[in-house]
Amino acid sequence: MTHPLIVGNWKMHGDGAWLDRVAAIAGAVAVPQIDVALCVPATLIHRAATIAPGLTIGAQDCHWAATGAHTGAISAMMLREAGAQVMILGHSERRAAGDDDAHVAAKVAAAQNAGLRVILCVGESAAERDDGAATARVRAQLIASLPERLTAGLTIAYEPIWAIGRGVIPSPVEITSVVDGIRSVLTARNVANARVLYGGSVTAAATRDLLARTDIDGLLVGAASLKPATFSEIIGAAI
Ligand code: G3P
Repeated sequence: MTHPLIVGNWKMHGDGAWLDRVAAIAGAVAVPQIDVALCVPATLIHRAATIAPGLTIGAQDCHWAATGAHTGAISAMMLREAGAQVMILGHSERRAAGDDDAHVAAKVAAAQNAGLRVILCVGESAAERDDGAATARVRAQLIASLPERLTAGLTIAYEPIWAIGRGVIPSPVEITSVVDGIRSVLTARNVANARVLYGGSVTAAATRDLLARTDIDGLLVGAASLKPATFSEIIGAAI
């Protein structure tokens, strides 16, 4: 296996004063045994990439078109030019705001065409989990969220919606069933060497156990990535 990949997702948190935090995180990740990326708000990408050239900076969304009359939108190429190297797409918070699977697939294609490494999020709701439909739902969502043509460098993040920001993490059996389902879709699509991350209420305390599992290649971290000390603790536990 390659190194574990730890990705911080700052969501809509952070202004210029937070660049100090970017610098602190960059200092903590200067170790070769682990890959770390930090997905900051679009307004911080350029400055973050400038002050922390050793840290992989990422975006959290893009428009599916390469250019055009889309007032207020930002294309994948614009984000790449600003300094993003990776891109979170299909996060449940974006899906809740209106992105359907077809939008997500078009965004994945746009980001890959722009040369960005995509972290594609999938995950079931609490109701789908309660219905016993978690794995089937995530498989269907993933199939529909993948564009026809895929290039290398794809990462899938399994983020059960009911575990995000709730302080709960699914059991090992629950994670394994869904991750197996994700990998079966990737195999059917001939996607080689894709990483599968887990995301949802990740803490430093949970990191070692999650990464000891052979089916998880890394973590997507929300709230716990906002403070450099906490995020550094997670990175330390992942080494
Ligand atoms: O993308 C990360 C995410 O949605 C999980 O957030 O705060 O539960 O770690 P959190």
